[in-house]
Parts: sequence; C-alpha cells; structure tokens
Amino acid sequence: MVTLKVNGQSHQIDADPDTPLLYVLRDDLRLNAAKYGCGLGQCGACTVMVDGEAVFSCVTPVMLLEGREITTVEGLGTVDRPGPMQQAFIEEQAAQCGYCIAGMMMRAQALLQKNPAATDEEIQAHMEPNLCRCGTHMRIMKAIRRAANLMQAAAQTSGAGRTG
Ligand code: FES
Repeated sequence: MVTLKVNGQSHQIDADPDTPLLYVLRDDLRLNAAKYGCGLGQCGACTVMVDGEAVFSCVTPVMLLEGREITTVEGLGTVDRPGPMQQAFIEEQAAQCGYCIAGMMMRAQALLQKNPAATDEEIQAHMEPNLCRCGTHMRIMKAIRRAANLMQAAAQTSGAGRTG
C-alpha cells in the first residue's frame, strides 16, 4: 500500500512499490492526461510534476513518491476554469494530435513556476526532452510564451490586490 498526494489530495493505493507512477495515475486514479508513449523515459508524453520538477512518470516507481507533491494537468485547472497554461495552449491551438500536450504543459509549468521570465532559449532547452511527432513546436513555443504572460499578469493582479 502506498499513499500518494496527487493534485492536493491523498490517495491510498494498493500497488506494488515499483509500479510506475503513470500506471497508478491512469489505472487507479483515472487521471488520463499523462500518456504512455515509449515507457522508457525518452519521449515525455507521461511528464508530470513532482515537488515542482518535471519527471517521466513512466519510469518513476511509486515507492519514491510517498509524501511528495504530484501534479498532473488535471491539477492545473478545469474545463470551466482552465489554468493559465491550459488557457494559453487553447488560445494558441497548440495541439495537433494532442498526444504529447499534457506532458508539454507539465514540463513548461515546471519551468515557469521557477522562472516566469524564461527566455526563448531557456524554454527551448528546457522543453528538449519532450517530443512532438506532429511538429507543432512553434505553436507550443507560442503557447508557453503566452502562459508566461498570463501568469505574470495574474501575479501582478494578486500582488496589487494584496497591497491595495
Ligand atoms: Fe514516459 Fe515516453 S512514456 S518518457
């Protein structure tokens, strides 16, 4: 039995300790945004955040994750209230087939949480492990830049609210 904290909620999971996180997310918790691509840590379709870092959930055993904060795309917002990253990907129509997109969003989220003013070069370098076979990289880049702007605007608004 392992206890996992996913998107702010604790779950007791009856799983073998070396089960990859991706299987638990999809099969036990029905969080289907993260995708199985290669299963080898080579494509990024399964990317989620653990304690703010982008990780490949297909090669991360659940036994390493007790007490850590796991975030999936489902934790970034909802259909009715998308978060800034989701909003930006929608507005830029960044998905072609969509298979890589949840992983792309989570890797980008990890970057912008740490470095909201990331340059294009920093974004490209950070996103390198995640592959898109449709070739929508330019739209994904635009979406990440847009997300950075949305997050900075939101931070300024909440900062103004605090001081005002
Ligand atoms: Fe995890 Fe490809 S499915 S990196």
